[in-house]
Amino acid sequence: MSLSIVIMAAGKGTRMKSSRPKVLHKLAGQAMLAHVIGTTSTLSAQRQVVITGHGAEMVESEMRAAFAQQPLQFVRQEPQLGTGHAVQQAVPVLPDEGVTLILNGDTPLIEAGTAQALVDACRGDHLALLTIRLPDPTGYGRIVRDASGVKVLGIVEHKDATPEQREINEVYTGMMAAPTAMLKRWLARLTNNNAQGEYYLTDVVAMAQADGVPVVAAQPRDEVEVLGVNSPAQLADLERRHQRAQANKLMEQGVRLADPARFDLRGQLQCGQDVDIDVNCIFEGQVRLGNNVQIGAHCVIRNAVIGDGAVIHPFTHIDGDTLGATVGAGSLIGPFARLRPGAELAEEVHIGNFVEVKNSTMAKGAKANHLAYLGDATVGERVNYGAGSITANYDGANKHRTVIGNDVHVGSNCVLIAPVTLGDGATIGGGSTISKDAPAGQLTVARAKQVSLAGWQRPQKTKR
Ligand code: UD1
Ligand code: MG
Repeated sequence: MSLSIVIMAAGKGTRMKSSRPKVLHKLAGQAMLAHVIGTTSTLSAQRQVVITGHGAEMVESEMRAAFAQQPLQFVRQEPQLGTGHAVQQAVPVLPDEGVTLILNGDTPLIEAGTAQALVDACRGDHLALLTIRLPDPTGYGRIVRDASGVKVLGIVEHKDATPEQREINEVYTGMMAAPTAMLKRWLARLTNNNAQGEYYLTDVVAMAQADGVPVVAAQPRDEVEVLGVNSPAQLADLERRHQRAQANKLMEQGVRLADPARFDLRGQLQCGQDVDIDVNCIFEGQVRLGNNVQIGAHCVIRNAVIGDGAVIHPFTHIDGDTLGATVGAGSLIGPFARLRPGAELAEEVHIGNFVEVKNSTMAKGAKANHLAYLGDATVGERVNYGAGSITANYDGANKHRTVIGNDVHVGSNCVLIAPVTLGDGATIGGGSTISKDAPAGQLTVARAKQVSLAGWQRPQKTKR
């Protein structure tokens, strides 16, 4: 059975009070619409159609970039005359057979299993609605059933509902699955003769009923799946619920979170056994933590792999961006350390406070414990890189590499002007500015010689 997915994302989102289209606002680091597209991409549909309108160009270009490998189709709805009018715009790109699943771009946490259950309930010849009972159904379309409570007769929008109908607490979530050919026929017959002067998609329910097409209802696994976002407060509320659910999943796997209410995951986090994560840490993109990893409070870690037994002390920032960042097993990082893209640390490396490492490899046991910069460097085993030392890797036009052999000792406050190589076992005297290669095994010092002047007098204050 061919499946078409239509995602409505043309609405303005006035209550967001933002210049950005509502569906581009982020939940867990990803645009709400991207959540819906990503989730429904797992359903093996023949086509995914996104209805855009408000801020259409921005929405389309951001989604094309986010799903570059996927043949998304965009259909414009201008002006926006209601949900029925929105789906009408997709009619020309929908086939005449199969099932169409309709979703909202501002309801980001819908799960693939629930969407699939809705498609299954449609069976190709039923109209299936996703409904839920809410303690406070205000604002939602109500599900009107017959006296037996079995048959769904129609959906009445809140603004059009009678006081009795407003007592109904089963509501329409905005998601349905319909036989495409029938849906097209029903859409052609919509009118805007209602309280809001809009073409309501929900009017197709009464048409199905009149045509003798069975109308069935399915329910989500969890209420959070059908919560839509209309305001910053609702977005923040959904974010916290989602974060709590992610935290619970990790804790079920054995991850110890100091406080699940102070944990943020904006991407995927894979954890080994006996991982401890202190409060206020943010994980972004793809992050992998090995066994026995400890993450201190207030760390931000993005696109990185942390090896077994590594300890990341508080306030450390690790950002692998597109190159990734690797921390080897048993390494100690931070507090207040910064690892940037292409930082590849082997086992038992020590990086201390206010040390920045970018596009550099550090071999086993290398240490940079205080106030230092390593950029575009290859650092050998057991190197000790002194406080305040830096690689001058940029000549104003190009980047150059610094190669530091095994067992090198770089004293404090050195400047290594790249390209430069320090041979194995070299020692660099503190305060040196090294612009030429330093031979292995020798002490190299490059600074003004120290002199002491005997008989020198300190200037005296002149008296007036
Ligand atoms: C809709 C349903 C209501 C349901 C509620 C669930 C209708 C008529 N009503 O109401 O029964 O309880 O969702 O949240 O369908 N959109 C467009 N173009 C338009 C109008 C809307 O693309 O012209 C998009 C919006 O961007 C949004 C979705 O459709 O993603 C729903 O629109 P919204 O205005 O929020 O519908 P509700 O009035 O909430
Ligand atoms: Mg709405």
